[in-house]
Amino acid sequence: MKIVSRTVGLSSLETALLVLPVTSQEVERAGKKGKRSGGRISGALAELEKVCGCDLAGRLRELGMHGKEGQSALLTFPGVGKIRAALVVGWPTKTESAFETGMKYRKLGSLIADTAKRARAKQVALHTATLDLKNDSALQALVEGTLLTGYSFRNYKEKKEDEFEGAEQLTLLSARPVSEKVIARGQLYAESTAYARDLINLSPRDCTPSYLMQQCKEIAKKSGLRVEVFDRKALEKLGAGALLAVAQGSEEPPYLVKLVYKPSKKSKRIISLVGKGVTFDSGGLSIKTGPGMESMKCDMSGAAAVMAAMRAIGQLKPAFEVRGYIPTTENMINGQATRPGDVVRASSGKTIEILNTDAEGRLILADAITMAEKDGCDVIVDLATLTGACMVALGTDYAGLFANDDRLAEKLTAAGDVSGEHLWRMPLAKEYKDWIKSSVADIKNLGKPFGGAITGALFLEEFVVKAKWAHLDIAGPAFVDGDAGFIRRGGVGFGVRTLLNYIQSV
Ligand code: BES
Ligand code: ZN
Ligand code: ZN
Repeated sequence: MKIVSRTVGLSSLETALLVLPVTSQEVERAGKKGKRSGGRISGALAELEKVCGCDLAGRLRELGMHGKEGQSALLTFPGVGKIRAALVVGWPTKTESAFETGMKYRKLGSLIADTAKRARAKQVALHTATLDLKNDSALQALVEGTLLTGYSFRNYKEKKEDEFEGAEQLTLLSARPVSEKVIARGQLYAESTAYARDLINLSPRDCTPSYLMQQCKEIAKKSGLRVEVFDRKALEKLGAGALLAVAQGSEEPPYLVKLVYKPSKKSKRIISLVGKGVTFDSGGLSIKTGPGMESMKCDMSGAAAVMAAMRAIGQLKPAFEVRGYIPTTENMINGQATRPGDVVRASSGKTIEILNTDAEGRLILADAITMAEKDGCDVIVDLATLTGACMVALGTDYAGLFANDDRLAEKLTAAGDVSGEHLWRMPLAKEYKDWIKSSVADIKNLGKPFGGAITGALFLEEFVVKAKWAHLDIAGPAFVDGDAGFIRRGGVGFGVRTLLNYIQSV
């Protein structure tokens, strides 16, 4: 969908659908004035009344529309003028947190996209007088919400003849033009999120480690990044025994892919992003249950977020270096598969006793974090659908955030708030460090039955040497089974916008 800004008034507007946010005060005023002065009302409502030539206040009253938050009313004006329908939306006036403000605008965008689709409106206009589009994050959230709601994954579906693909254009009507730059940024953020969603939603027989590796090469070509691919042979040379152990039971070859964005002016600062890329997690010999496996194509959501972010970073061109590391493999079972009890050596030199082959994410991340550390960088942020325990702890709307640096944790949380993604800080509890000690190796990949998200994070911390580091356990919010506003069923693309906002805030 195209999003443009125009400074025309309602009288010269031609549109299938006009969306008009109003506050309860405006509606109240309109009602009173309407009674006293024979139907004349003020503001945007007055403008619309003039154009459509009807008793708007009366119709809204009839529909029980008081302009309260969460209320909306669809009015149609058949055969009257150039505006065929209007969606009047209750708009709250109270001030909120950055998260709530962004959500409010994202939800409005969602309502616009949904209503346009239901009404089969190709052209939609939004009256913006009540909104605060001078606030860049509000405008960006509106654009993101509209575009992300229009997302659907149709790769494997036959196209129906009469399918309506959503509105073609949204026109923002305002007294002064709104920022084209911010609209473009919202488009880039939404398009990047959709890219991650597509990767996650693909069938795992199509989205293999080789496919992710090929996609990284494409990203590098299109976004002007450097790419380096470590295949099985190169991984053996590096001694990446943890990643190789996970890949052992699969017919698909594993990779560790490195994407590098370099700024035009030399910079000392380097940020590394690491994403878990398990394209299917069967659990290995510690096999999952049938239902537990159903959504396990989503186990590369961390990789998808990092790849999508790197793709956009090539266009956003920050003033410092950003590197993306994508360790990717399947976690499958054959005669070669890793057994519970196997001891392997990671590229850091540490030995790991693999007690549960389903705790494979931490193994592949260990070798990727080690590579980021050996390459040298200031900050490492990893994203991983790491533990079911994190989902138990925080539910489906919050990602767990672990960090060895308070400022980094704060920056990421703030970036999440602006993006509409909740990150909740969890402790790197020293008290539980003993829980991952092994009797036969340096560490083991399994803790106790409780605190699984924490012991998963503590395991990763063992491979962090110098960098400021944060780990986002996105097992909860990465994948959903139903549509919810701008979040559509399937892969969410969680973390893409948070990473981009974080990179822009550094
Ligand atoms: N990929 C899973 C975690 C997961 C669960 C992601 C549900 C998304 C939704 C991970 O590899 C895993 O299986 N973790 C185990 C760890 C345990 C064996 C220590 C888990 O959470 O049960
Ligand atoms: Zn697993
Ligand atoms: Zn996994």
